Formats: sequence, C-alpha cells, structure tokens
Amino acid sequence: LSPARAADDGARPLVIAHRGASAYAPENTLAAVDKAAALGIDWVENDVQRTKDGELVVLHDDSLQRTTDVEEVFPGRAPWKVKDFTLAEIARLDAGSWFDPAYAGARVPTLEQFVNRVERHHQKLLLEIKNPQLYPGIERQTLKVLSNEGWLDRRHVKHRLIVQSFSADSIRTVHELKPAVKTGFLGTPPVADLPSYAAFADQINPSHGSLSAGYVAAVHTLDGAHGKPLEVFTWTVNDAAAARRVAGFGVDGIITNTPDVVRDAVGG
Ligand code: G3P
Ligand code: CA
Repeated sequence: LSPARAADDGARPLVIAHRGASAYAPENTLAAVDKAAALGIDWVENDVQRTKDGELVVLHDDSLQRTTDVEEVFPGRAPWKVKDFTLAEIARLDAGSWFDPAYAGARVPTLEQFVNRVERHHQKLLLEIKNPQLYPGIERQTLKVLSNEGWLDRRHVKHRLIVQSFSADSIRTVHELKPAVKTGFLGTPPVADLPSYAAFADQINPSHGSLSAGYVAAVHTLDGAHGKPLEVFTWTVNDAAAARRVAGFGVDGIITNTPDVVRDAVGG
C-alpha cells in the first residue's frame, strides 16, 4: 500500500471502499476486502450484525435474502433475518453467486474473519454497527472482538479504526466503553445540534446528496471527542463528478463502491 495514502499523513480526502470494493466483488465478503487491497485502497467499510447464537457477522441487510442463497437453502424461513439463523447455518450460505457466478462459494464472514483479512492487507477499518436496536449489547461485543484481534492496541487504534452508526446512542456507548476508539455519526444533524454530537463523536458522516460546502465548514469549526476538528466522511459517491464535487467541499473522506474511480478523480 502506498504510504502517500496512509490515514494519518494528512492526505485528504481519504478513499474508503464501501462494503469492500463492492462494485467489483460481492459486498461485505473477504473477496471485496481483497479487491480493495488489489486496487491499493487503504480503508474498508463494513456492517456488523448478530446471529441467533450471538456471533457477530458482516452483512448489510438485517435479512440474508438479498445477498445469499438462503431462500434455496432454508425455504420456509422467511423473512430470513440474520438474528433468526445460527452461525453454522449462515456458514452454509453462498454469499457470492447473487453478485457473479465467478464468486460462487464466497461466505458471510464473521467479524473476526473480516478484521483479520483487513489486517493482513495492512488496511484500516471503518466499522458500522448496523441496527443496534435489534442487538442489545452489540457495542461491547464488537469492542471485545476488536480487542481480542489486537485492534484496540493503544499505539494504532486511532490511526486504523473508526466505529460509526446511524444510532447516536450506539456510538456514545462505544465512546464511553473505549474512549480511545474514534467514532462517527451517520447522518446530517442540524448545525445547531453539532456540539452535542462532538461530545462523543469524531466524525459527522452525511449522505453526499445532503452535503454542502457550508455544512462541511460548520462541522470543521468544532472539535470532536478527541479534541481535534470534527471530520466529515461522506457516502456513497460512485462517480468522478460527484467525487470532485464533495472533494471541493473539503470532506475528509469519501466512502465509495468504486474506490479506484474516486481515487483517480480526487487524487486521494
Ligand atoms: O458508510 C456509510 C454507509 O455505509 C451508510 O449506509 O446503508 O450503505 O450502510 P449503508
Ligand atoms: Ca454501511
């Protein structure tokens, strides 16, 4: 990986592969992490949910239906919610064929498998806690897995890990449990409300459609939970023109399914 794109060298905007390089490989699989690495992308985003038997897995939807062959393997178990299947059941599913037959046999990874693959490539992780209202205690459990796998090491944690969520309560909990971990709030709070988020968040991460230069500037005037200016990572930007637009607003990171396109557009 190019040192010029390291997260902590000041080069902005960072380019973050959304669910891995998900335009080119099945989202949230190890293959999508590998593809991001092959493209030279340092940052990977993922989504974490919990199985019936309490294991953390990486999947975007709360149902297995869209991105696996669960309907064929387990007919009659509609609506195929992650929380209603054990890890052993989920491990039987094909999470690649829906995207392209070339990826047949790709699996839904556990969080442990996913972070280890990210680490193997010396990449950095933007981890989203998905649907935390469905999974009481998922924040503590996520931090435990990250700790077990060495991701909370004091020397590196601030440089290679950010935990984000659409739930302010969830990232506040992460901040309180492990203050060293950087956190991001997914959304576009009114400018007047930003100081309350800055108490426990390091980032405000809006959809790019709702973004403006003025909003980014307003976020940057505040210090975040670690005493540095609040950052803005925006999503999901998949073409060069949109990437140049948000780069012009001064965003700190661009979350994208096409990280090569965005990198080439903004020189990140
Ligand atoms: O990283 C931001 C983005 O992932 C949030 O939306 O629905 O793709 O998880 P979603
Ligand atoms: Ca996400």
